[in-house]
Amino acid sequence: MSTEMQLNTYGLYFESLNRMFVFSLPSLSSRQPITARGSAPLATRLLSLFNTTRWVKESQVVFSFCFPRLTLKRCATLGMQCLRGAVKHAGSGVERLTSAVRGFGSSSQHFRASPPPWCTDADPPKVLITGGLGQLGVGLAKLLRRRFGKNNVILSDIRKPPSHVDHNGPFIFSDILDYKNLREIVVNNNISWLVHYSAVLSAVGENNVALAREVNITGLHNILDIATEHGLRLFVPSTIGAFGPSSPRDPAPELCVQRPRTIYGVSKVHAELMGEYYHHRYGLDFRCLRYPGIISADSQPGGGTTDYAVQIFHAAVKTGRFECNLRGDTRLPMMYIDDCLRATLEFLEAPAASLLGRTYNINATSFTPRDLVREIQKGLPDLEVTYNVDPIRQAIADGWPMALEDTAARRDWGWKHEYGLSELVRTMLTHIATGNQLAQTY
Ligand SMILES: NC(=O)c1ccc[n+]([C@@H]2O[C@H](COP(=O)([O-])OP(=O)(O)OC[C@H]3O[C@@H](n4cnc5c(N)ncnc54)[C@H](O)[C@@H]3O)[C@@H](O)[C@H]2O)c1
Repeated sequence: MSTEMQLNTYGLYFESLNRMFVFSLPSLSSRQPITARGSAPLATRLLSLFNTTRWVKESQVVFSFCFPRLTLKRCATLGMQCLRGAVKHAGSGVERLTSAVRGFGSSSQHFRASPPPWCTDADPPKVLITGGLGQLGVGLAKLLRRRFGKNNVILSDIRKPPSHVDHNGPFIFSDILDYKNLREIVVNNNISWLVHYSAVLSAVGENNVALAREVNITGLHNILDIATEHGLRLFVPSTIGAFGPSSPRDPAPELCVQRPRTIYGVSKVHAELMGEYYHHRYGLDFRCLRYPGIISADSQPGGGTTDYAVQIFHAAVKTGRFECNLRGDTRLPMMYIDDCLRATLEFLEAPAASLLGRTYNINATSFTPRDLVREIQKGLPDLEVTYNVDPIRQAIADGWPMALEDTAARRDWGWKHEYGLSELVRTMLTHIATGNQLAQTY
């Protein structure tokens, strides 16, 4: 049996090729400091996570976590405690693993000095974000730059950046339809992670199917080929729009019938399937999250069906009136941008071995326009809302899920949302009302 154990200031990593124990915890990827006081409940939690039949059935062994602020010795002790406890709880099916663990003991000869690939600060990734001037890219760049350094994150788009974006770090022109140019950027900048945000969104796509097909499908093919050719970690967001009227809607599970009726949805299902195919066929490190509708204060949405849920805040603060283009009872999954961007970073940093899938749902909250209006009126009681339904957007929304089932993301890489409806509304109103639109928490 092939086994490996690594220990360093970042944590302990144990691997065997025959069985898999995945311990997923939120601090793994966010690398929040874990103090000695915090470590005991954490170990208990790891063990309780493990002590379920589903883990015992998996076919490879991976045991990994990061305790960045613990001493090497404390880290080793805690790691061995967890591992022994895990083996004890696993029962009779893991004899070979048990003997491997006994073999390790606390001997340092099995510990390697180098950090596991996802835990090193010495060699941060060089990240390229395509379509970076949209609703999500600038915020993600800010978060990634804080984590990996300003010059290690390059924003790109086909539009001219506003001056504050230009001053905050490298920006480059990149049209994802230009394969040669894209390849040149990846090679010249030694890119190792690619975040592919360029897209034509749902409502705009229905008005220009040819453009949506070109950008969302042909563009994706370029991205897949370049990522594979250069061994990149590739993140492509998917969407609730990848489900359709025949998918279960409340909640939509990870795996189910997906027959979307928009070119946007079709192109995103295509992206999910192609990415997973490239992963299995060529070993591409493809990662995909199905985002809900994203709510942000400092960036405008780019023509999606959930745009109303951003626009209403600006209208509420500026004029006190809003005309909603969806019916008042249209329930859709939504997420505050900080949660979305943090999820993206945590997912990108998650050890490949902990990912039992490559496409994950993430969920935070779900609401209707009426729910949202009621919540905003708690702060702005004079807000008046009328409804003037756009049949195209309404038809799209009626075929989308009302919530997403996201237990796999919570289990495999520790996803946890922080913003429910009331926190989201409070935060949005504060940002917009104070004009402090860049005051994101990261
Ligand atoms: N915002 C949301 O609510 C949401 C929800 C689910 C999924 N997503 C996905 O997240 C990603 C980012 O979303 P967003 O809201 O920032 O989108 P957006 O529409 O605001 O921005 C997309 C960007 O892509 C750029 N672009 C268009 N054609 C291009 C080309 N040929 N080459 C390079 N860039 C090009 C545009 O200039 C634009 O800046 C998209 O893939 C989207 O499908 C977003």
